[in-house]
Amino acid sequence: MSANSQNPAVTAGDILAQKGKTPIVSLTAYTTPMAQMMDQHCDFILVGDSVGMVLHGLPSTLGVTMEMMILHGAAVARGLSHAMLVIDMPFGSYEESPAQAFRNAARLMREAGAAAVKLEGGVEMAATIRFLVERGIPVMAHLGLTPQSINTLGGYKVQGRDAAGAAVMAGAQAVAEAGAFAVVLEKVPQTLADEITAAVAIPTIGIGASAGCDGQILVVDDMLGLFTAFKPKFVKRYGNLGVDAEAAIAAYAADVRARSFPAAEHVFADQAGSKG
Ligand code: KIV
Repeated sequence: MSANSQNPAVTAGDILAQKGKTPIVSLTAYTTPMAQMMDQHCDFILVGDSVGMVLHGLPSTLGVTMEMMILHGAAVARGLSHAMLVIDMPFGSYEESPAQAFRNAARLMREAGAAAVKLEGGVEMAATIRFLVERGIPVMAHLGLTPQSINTLGGYKVQGRDAAGAAVMAGAQAVAEAGAFAVVLEKVPQTLADEITAAVAIPTIGIGASAGCDGQILVVDDMLGLFTAFKPKFVKRYGNLGVDAEAAIAAYAADVRARSFPAAEHVFADQAGSKG
């Protein structure tokens, strides 16, 4: 039987079993072609709510809706046959109550094909995580810099320095005990990330955290150099596709203005067979 997004080759159990063994590879994706390119290289693909900033030009992730996550989630699902599909629960879709979280997580599974959902928060979200897991929904947690809380965090700063580290550690222990199968650690000091990785039984997925985490994730448009509005320190650019794309667009515009495109090989003859 071939795998698909809800019957993936990689499962939450496989991700959990990679803890302390093989590094877990992950990227975000928002479209089918990108998902197809990543599928065989990644263990899981995240349809992050970063889609709002990266593809829709929003100033933060707060304006992202369930409809956007379902649309992009379903597009990514169509590109996957190996990697596990995890979809972010957007701001306002899960914080109110475990029942609200279940209703919306179930939509992401049913309508978009998610095999798991990700939500932000630690101790305060533990009861919700337990509620979802006990009802068949694998949950990935997200701690440290949680962009949906940008207004209470006061900016995109490193989280958990000094005494604040204890709260991040407590959050990691709470989500692990509640049944999360993995936890993203975003923008936390390296030592704290290493301590959490050693302390919890579930894999830690670092982004701006530590090479000692059990896995890593990056926003694909950041690492390909497609999103150039700003570059966080933790991003390594593996390509400069934004520069390449703009050069290609400029060359096309120049060709059209010079009437050198379309050329003879791009147009059709009056009669089939003579010039194609
Ligand atoms: O929305 C997103 O892309 C994320 C990653 C940065 C982990 O949550």
